[in-house]
Amino acid sequence: MNSILKINNLTKHYGKIKAVENLSLEVQEGNVYGILGPNGSGKTTTLGMILDVVKPTSGEYSWLNAGSKSQSRKKIGAILETPAFYPYLSAVRNLKIVAKIKENGAENIEPVLKQVGLFDRKDDAFKTYSLGMKQRLSIAAALLADPPVLILDEPTNGLDPQGIAEIRELIKNIASQGKTILFASHILDEVQKVCTHFTVLKSGKKVYDGNVEEVMNQNKKIEVASENLEELKSIVSGFGDLESLENESGKLIIKLMNGSDSIDLHKYLIDKGIVLSHLSERKSSLEQKFLNILKESDD
Ligand SMILES: Nc1ncnc2c1ncn2[C@@H]1O[C@H](COP(=O)(O)OP(=O)(O)OP(=O)(O)O)[C@@H](O)[C@H]1O
Ligand SMILES: [Mg+2]
Repeated sequence: MNSILKINNLTKHYGKIKAVENLSLEVQEGNVYGILGPNGSGKTTTLGMILDVVKPTSGEYSWLNAGSKSQSRKKIGAILETPAFYPYLSAVRNLKIVAKIKENGAENIEPVLKQVGLFDRKDDAFKTYSLGMKQRLSIAAALLADPPVLILDEPTNGLDPQGIAEIRELIKNIASQGKTILFASHILDEVQKVCTHFTVLKSGKKVYDGNVEEVMNQNKKIEVASENLEELKSIVSGFGDLESLENESGKLIIKLMNGSDSIDLHKYLIDKGIVLSHLSERKSSLEQKFLNILKESDD
């Protein structure tokens, strides 16, 4: 894994407001990195600083994929605010203007419009687009120069469930091409569904960072059922790595510890002669973890 961005004690104060405080983090190439936090926690300010549009009060960051700041900036596609497209011009005409300004990417107009699912509407005026389509055109504009890094600030804001799902699919699709994506969100579920890694900000401070998969696994529960639930319960109770056991509508909900997983449990039960009628893993959402993180950081 190669680091692509290193942030070291980055701080931004606006007078008395501490928008970002001593933030350090590292993003690896190919990560889909979520910056998660409630309103006003410093997400946009952080993105603004690493995009060189907000001047840090102190601290530093470095993009490790290129030499100078201006060179590395060209390798980043970003949407901090919805770019101003010309309402009466089509998607194609608008992107031609973007390519001209960026001096790059004119040859990518058709492929990016296909990628964001706007190819069918490419000749329609921007003002006739839905909010989700406008958002996808912004992403198309950010992708024009085929940057290895994409930065998005709350890309699903204001969209309906269908629009949200489309943007999520698009982000996954872009990530599958090996691009590194950094995005801010206040929606946990979004981070959980799209990101590989995340950091949680609270009042400008980092209160957690980690790997989404690992956090989900830490909170993983196993469901089992068999014909004789009482017998099953007493046998499961004897499993060495059992952390907790609950009864829930005809099933046992089990949490294991010490890295044991459902396969270990199943082997144990087979050894005890138990035939299961049901076995599944239930990944709990990041929600509880996130709420705990915010709560713990109050103490
Ligand atoms: N230009 C500015 N001048 C003064 N204060 C600012 C400025 N920009 C941001 N702030 C303050 O910095 C803090 C962090 O704001 P920021 O926009 O980074 O939060 P955010 O996490 O992006 O919030 P949201 O989820 O609402 O977009 C807030 O208290 C905000 O009022
Ligand atoms: Mg913001």
